[in-house]
Amino acid sequence: QRLMHRELQGVKFLVVSNREPYVHSWKGEEMVASRPAGGLALALDPVLQAANGTWIAQGTGDADRESVDEHDHVAVPPDNPTYTLRRVWIDEQLQREFYNGMANEGLWPLCHASFVRPTFRPRDWESYRRANQIFADAILEEAGDEAAFVFIQDYHFALLPRMLKERNPKLIVAQFWHIPWPNAEAFRAFPWKEEILDGLLGNDLFGFQLRYHCTNFLETIDRNIEAIVNNEQSNVQRGGHETLVRPFPISIDFDAHVRTAFGPEVQADMEEWRRQLNLDSSGIEFLGIGIDRIDYTKGIPDRLHGFDYFLEQHPEYRGRIQFVQIGVPSRMQIEQYQAVSEEVEKLVDTINTRWATGSWKPVIFLKQYFTPRQLIALHRLAHFCVVTSLHDGMNLVAKEYVASRFDEDGVLILSRFTGAARELSDALLVNPFAIGEIAEAIAQAVHMKQEERRKRMRRMRREVEENNIYHWAANILSQLLRFEIPSTQSEDE
Ligand code: G6P
Repeated sequence: QRLMHRELQGVKFLVVSNREPYVHSWKGEEMVASRPAGGLALALDPVLQAANGTWIAQGTGDADRESVDEHDHVAVPPDNPTYTLRRVWIDEQLQREFYNGMANEGLWPLCHASFVRPTFRPRDWESYRRANQIFADAILEEAGDEAAFVFIQDYHFALLPRMLKERNPKLIVAQFWHIPWPNAEAFRAFPWKEEILDGLLGNDLFGFQLRYHCTNFLETIDRNIEAIVNNEQSNVQRGGHETLVRPFPISIDFDAHVRTAFGPEVQADMEEWRRQLNLDSSGIEFLGIGIDRIDYTKGIPDRLHGFDYFLEQHPEYRGRIQFVQIGVPSRMQIEQYQAVSEEVEKLVDTINTRWATGSWKPVIFLKQYFTPRQLIALHRLAHFCVVTSLHDGMNLVAKEYVASRFDEDGVLILSRFTGAARELSDALLVNPFAIGEIAEAIAQAVHMKQEERRKRMRRMRREVEENNIYHWAANILSQLLRFEIPSTQSEDE
């Protein structure tokens, strides 16, 4: 962590994402800072805390503007300010077309093979371009004419790398694509191929979660745009500029997570869960959990069908097992997100009506946000955790569950179609489309002997401990530091 800071000293480090790490909002008279849901913002925060620097992101809270200085800067995190957050303001229409439309109705379903068809409206693309331009202006203002490292996050900013390079060639630009990259055939549906690919090839370094996504990207380039693709060295040359394409599987701050899990507050939160779920007096022997943003890529209905099938196949567990599904509302302005949310609610009702007896209800669905600490407390109580994404770049819920279990107990059921499945091979891996496999894995989880649980959990924990978020950041930064940093003096000085 310290190394990162020292190595970057002298050269500005700017991180860019659409989602901000801290939201300021009004709670009556009081201004409170909260953390948004979703892996990206949570994962990157410790990196910024170690490296200092500036994080440029969209302001979203109703008090965001009031909490900043006149140049839109605020020091974060609130209890221990270690870096600067610069907010960018996007008006409502732009947000609708750039974020809801292009990013989340276009690129998100295009990149995830999850059977929701992407929608491409010309107006959304125009707004996407404009939003990228607004972020480019903010970044260029932060960097001045100097050299700086700019580290862009995700699919909201495909055009940004080229825009930055054109206006300040001294910038060293890297981007990390947190979601999958589709195969070249699926990518054919995208209407503005040349522009988006040219935008991305403005990067000096372009990172994906998996080697597989790198390969898909290289093939997409090869088929769609004039460039020289070197598959062996995993790079692309276009117009005399080279882009390195590399896998960097993202992770979590394992040590900080474990420290929290050990803390007395988590004990109190566990008590609270026990009380709320009535765990001590209800005769429940097994608790299963699922934690997701409500998103059609997460396979929440599939998981519930799997649990339903388990209850059908294993009547001896009725009354003894409970499944708690947490669904954090997300992107609710988009129709498909509302649809999946309604589908989940209906399904929970159907399953409960089918199997409930006395005071026992097999599924509890909590559609709300919980703090990381409350989630750790729930992890610690759960006999098994189920992640059944139909397609997922990484999935950090799986890694968080493992990190919470310092008691080396608990079973992870994990979709093969997540990036995390490559590292966490000691999970019970399932095809999320096969509800029979999900039901079978639940049965295996509740039957598994303690020794076996311990063996698997220990190996998974070692994996996450080693390949933690600092490892991820250090790998990216050490690649960046190999690029020659252009002199900050202008030529006629
Ligand atoms: C995924 C994306 C992130 C995004 C997060 C939450 O992890 O890769 O870029 O921030 O979901 O989604 P939201 O749309 O709320 O930012």
